[in-house]
Amino acid sequence: MADAVMVPDISRTVQKWRSKPGSLIMALHEIQNRYGYVPRNVSLQLAQLMNVPLARIYEVITFYNYFRLEPPGKHNLSVCMGTACYLKGAPALLDTLKNELHVEEGETTPDGEFHLESVRCVGCCGLAPVVVANGETLAKVGVNAIGGLLARCRNEQKED
Ligand code: FES
Repeated sequence: MADAVMVPDISRTVQKWRSKPGSLIMALHEIQNRYGYVPRNVSLQLAQLMNVPLARIYEVITFYNYFRLEPPGKHNLSVCMGTACYLKGAPALLDTLKNELHVEEGETTPDGEFHLESVRCVGCCGLAPVVVANGETLAKVGVNAIGGLLARCRNEQKED
């Protein structure tokens, strides 16, 4: 079995959301917040507990690009490609990260350390271009800062 989460218990999540509008999406949000992605065995359990076809769950997961089907990397890097960030150089940041990490958007490095993605406006356009690194919003990021950012992540990993 490939999934990292072997015996998830999502019964409380299902109970919490079952009777509310948008229950499937809310339950999926809670699951992703807990595991960092939506593991397949959790989707199977969710389908049974909510009495929803598995195909419907995957329809929702694949429709919203917020949801992930793969575990994220240890370090998650999101380059904002919203208009303000795009105009202030986000494409160059994304290209630099792709080259440095040898991954495409949406991919995780083979060692599982870095996950790279692009996102739409994260709501702080005045700080463009923005990179969100492990949940921390970095402002006015220049291409020259990418090496330092990756080094900092790698150092944190050594200190763990
Ligand atoms: S466009 Fe990047 S934060 Fe708004």
